[in-house]
Amino acid sequence: MIQENNGVFRLDTPNTTYLFHITETGHLEHLYYGQTLNEIGDLEAYRVNTKLRMPTIVNTSDRFPRSYPALTLMETSSFGKGDLREVAFAGEYGENGNTVFDFVYDSYRIEKGCALPSPLPFARRNCSSTLIIQCLDEPTGIILELHYTVFDDCDVITRSCVVCNSGSETLVIRSVSSLQLDLIDTGWEALTLDGAWSRERQICRTPLHSGIFSIQSTAGISSAEHNPLLILNRNSGSYLFNLFWSGDHRESVEVTTYGTLRLLTGINPSTFSYRLKSGECFYTPEAMMAFSPCGEEYVTQTAHFFVRQQVLPEYWSEKERPILLNSWEGMGFDLSEEKIKKQALQAKKLGIELFVIDDGWFRHKQCAVGDLGDWVVAENKFPKGLKSVVSFLHEIGLMAGIWVEPESISLESDLYRTHPEYLVQCPGREPSPGRDQYLLDLTREDVVQVLYQKLENLISDNSFDYLKWDMNRYFSDDYSPDLWMPEFRYRWTIGLYELLRKIRRRFPTLLIEGCASGGGRFDLGMLSYVDQFWGSDNTDATDRLEIFLGTSLGYPQRCFGAHVSKIPNGITGRIYDYETAFAVNAFGAYGYELDVTALTDEEKQIFIDQITFYKQFRNLLQLGTLRRVRNDDTVIWTTENEDATVILALYLEKRTCVSQPKVRTLQVPSCRREVIYRVRTRKQWITAPFPCAMKNGAHLSEVFERIVPGVILCGNGMTLMPVHLGTDMNQDTAFLGDYGSRIFIVEAMGGT
Ligand code: GLA
Repeated sequence: MIQENNGVFRLDTPNTTYLFHITETGHLEHLYYGQTLNEIGDLEAYRVNTKLRMPTIVNTSDRFPRSYPALTLMETSSFGKGDLREVAFAGEYGENGNTVFDFVYDSYRIEKGCALPSPLPFARRNCSSTLIIQCLDEPTGIILELHYTVFDDCDVITRSCVVCNSGSETLVIRSVSSLQLDLIDTGWEALTLDGAWSRERQICRTPLHSGIFSIQSTAGISSAEHNPLLILNRNSGSYLFNLFWSGDHRESVEVTTYGTLRLLTGINPSTFSYRLKSGECFYTPEAMMAFSPCGEEYVTQTAHFFVRQQVLPEYWSEKERPILLNSWEGMGFDLSEEKIKKQALQAKKLGIELFVIDDGWFRHKQCAVGDLGDWVVAENKFPKGLKSVVSFLHEIGLMAGIWVEPESISLESDLYRTHPEYLVQCPGREPSPGRDQYLLDLTREDVVQVLYQKLENLISDNSFDYLKWDMNRYFSDDYSPDLWMPEFRYRWTIGLYELLRKIRRRFPTLLIEGCASGGGRFDLGMLSYVDQFWGSDNTDATDRLEIFLGTSLGYPQRCFGAHVSKIPNGITGRIYDYETAFAVNAFGAYGYELDVTALTDEEKQIFIDQITFYKQFRNLLQLGTLRRVRNDDTVIWTTENEDATVILALYLEKRTCVSQPKVRTLQVPSCRREVIYRVRTRKQWITAPFPCAMKNGAHLSEVFERIVPGVILCGNGMTLMPVHLGTDMNQDTAFLGDYGSRIFIVEAMGGT
């Protein structure tokens, strides 16, 4: 709900209120964002009191002697009128490059469920209304519109800005944040998701002190190094921010020496500028914000709900995703129709539903990366073309998927030979390769059109059901002949979105999985077009625990591609067991990535049991409400159906304590106190090297069923069996081992 009363703007979601007003100087002062306010009370209680005479810092004007921009909490900010913090807007206007801007409130309007005429992805507008505040910098005629969209169903507010040049000269935008949030500094912690290839989205916590804390991407894509998600924690609650942008982004939090905090998020100004001519408008990406007084676990639930309801493409959003077998880790480049058929027949027997032909299906001449850009099938591998494989897959009842990397080009391709100008390179400089390949110039409409046509043909000629959209290199050599180069990355990302939008429109039911050398572009921009994103090239289940934990702070498990691969793991060499690999990956869009024709009979049986179980509980595992209950030496995740009558719980011990028996408990906080539950173990296999008391070979784990009051489960937890200590090994002991895990099924039986 959005209300305006005497210059006070109030935005309400079901559990939060956002408040700001027009000050006596005509600026927009931020007052409050947090738990719902019943009564606003006296505005002075929210304002930073500036009724002192302060030396050095400047006043807004002579007419308002005690209004200090440096101290005030603002809805937006610009350089040149005394605000000492990093500002949301900076630019140069006209020939002399005027840098001073001062945006003053002009007018407002409220629109219901409106879509932005923007070339960028933004949240769908179901159940929403938007407050648009127009601010004006009078001397230049530059208009800054602040758009606040309130999602009544999701508890989320989004913010974006539109800059319009109604002056007569050109404006160069140096920076324009999507969102600015000024708060009082009360001792904050920033939580960010940092990493690199194969260790994406590791949780980093930074206590904030006076000064600027920032994360950014300069990679050209949102990057594995720093995800755009940022959480601000303090004792009284958590704020979560995220950005619909897949290019360079920057999030900064400035704690001032005056006891305020300013959050900015948006396009990274260090790799961006934009020339806005008279009469033109510029759109920033949209940013989301959510708040929970109960901390980061709760604000995470809000983010999940929002991504489900308002971000993910509609067709698959609430649908169960198929269990897939991807050829990459099992077959590498060694693909052929015959080999794929063998894999597919075995996959079908295991219960797998989708076969994905990964890299290696297209023509390779001399170059290691093949003829990237041409997307012509390798005839020596597929003499009858891809269509014949797809028909076979469909005949045996499997869906068919294909891997592409549309944004890249190889020097060996015919596309490069005929259109060298499509490759991004600076005149007079040798272009820098990344994974032996180069970027296509997506700022060009003709390139977008060529790519669209190639993808359209590939998908429709062969009737693919699934597409893996990969991107394997960062940016360099920014250049396109007809551009002003500081705009290159913005325009390139818009080109990418245009291509994705065209494909999505043409194939609304196609299941698309994004990928960027694993999870290097896992962001809300991509998730507006792709249904899921490959979590990481690192499929080591013990590493995936951490990657999932970080990712699941902002993104629901249905969009997290998670596969079981060969053990020892191909990247880390680590040994764990297939049941732990299953348990960890089952909380995601699940699949396998290994040579299924090389499995032992025992392994086949293990996989058949996993797949049977996964199908039985897939709805819960993919689409349920996820809770991350513990992450110390013990990991507990749960996922529940809508009324929490069926809950699955993962219990995993990172390092099993074997020297002394330790009481082990399972806590399931989503249980209702007044309800009685039946708790049973999933029947699973123990394949780790066996203690003396047991025969070699796979054994079934301990199996039990308990009737347990909800009050116990959501309190201290129910006790579990002791782990084996090298003595007794019977149905009353559990053999767990390091990173050993169990899945429990918790079902409501009725009231007490
Ligand atoms: C990237 C992806 C992998 C795989 C390979 C193929 O690394 O992340 O999943 O598709 O490319 O080259």
